[in-house]
Amino acid sequence: MAITLRDVVKRYSDRDGTQIAAVDGLTLEVPAGMCLGLLGPNGAGKSTTMRLLTAQSRADEGTIRVLGHDIPSEAKQARALMGVVPQTDNLDEELTVRQNLEVFARLYRVPRAGLREAVDRALEIAQLTGRAEARAVNLSGGMRRRLLVARGLVHSPRLVLLDEPTVGLDPQVRADLWGLIAGLRADGVTVLMSTHYIEEAERLADACALMSHGRVIANGTPAELIAEHAGDRVEEHEGPPDRLAEIEGLARRAGLPTRRTGPTVSVLRAERIPPSLGEALTNGHRVVRRAANLEDVFVVLTGETVE
Ligand SMILES: Nc1ncnc2c1ncn2[C@@H]1O[C@H](COP(=O)(O)OP(=O)(O)O)[C@@H](O)[C@H]1O
Ligand SMILES: [Mg+2]
Repeated sequence: MAITLRDVVKRYSDRDGTQIAAVDGLTLEVPAGMCLGLLGPNGAGKSTTMRLLTAQSRADEGTIRVLGHDIPSEAKQARALMGVVPQTDNLDEELTVRQNLEVFARLYRVPRAGLREAVDRALEIAQLTGRAEARAVNLSGGMRRRLLVARGLVHSPRLVLLDEPTVGLDPQVRADLWGLIAGLRADGVTVLMSTHYIEEAERLADACALMSHGRVIANGTPAELIAEHAGDRVEEHEGPPDRLAEIEGLARRAGLPTRRTGPTVSVLRAERIPPSLGEALTNGHRVVRRAANLEDVFVVLTGETVE
């Protein structure tokens, strides 16, 4: 296993002194070579988990191992082998793109003889070769994010932690980063990526761990999770509120899970709707049929939405 977390708890005191468990009994394994998506809404504990893995923060309970090293006691050794891309941008504004990378290459003890090459390679991965001499302060948001990723890769780590790599980015920049992450995956680098974007997890991850209130509530490939918890098809029904309540009642009595999204009710496992019920459900209003997705799984398991 590249990463093992067992029964990990991390508590914080909030402003009035009450303790909250940001991570609350988390157990998770990430096999070497896998791209695992840690999917959960804001506040689920994803960033805290990332900080525990890098020993920026210390667990109150449980055990953590990263690449064969115990955390926090052997954090130094583990950190040398992993690349970290934090959620918050902490580039050095005054330095150039190249200098930002060089600082990290030295920090990660990339041998002097290979430093130039390592930095050039990171520039290329992030498609920033043409901007190498620009100061970070002058980069666009998308370029900054690519530089942040490149900085985490400059020492060719076997394991990369990406915390919400594409949050707040426009679609083009997001697509560029997806390409970059897919490239890491193809190279056999182990990736742990947190996200609250369903599409990102479904597209990039070999497997997903769904996280809610500090724990992993389900784990598997997106296809497995969807088949197990949400079935195959979903019918989204539109209509006035009393009609929606009626549809919910009919579906639930037939043992089919439902979810509300604004002016619609979605009936999950729609492939199991018997013909007689199908007519009653679709009586006179608009119905959209679609494939079940990970968001449905999340709602079925937690009642929460992710995005
Ligand atoms: N340094 C901290 N002090 C107090 N509470 C924190 C701290 N860091 C995180 N939390 C709380 O822990 C919970 C999980 O936060 P976080 O790990 O950032 O979630 P996510 O990254 O999934 O959005 C949230 O309720 C957050 O407010
Ligand atoms: Mg976070």
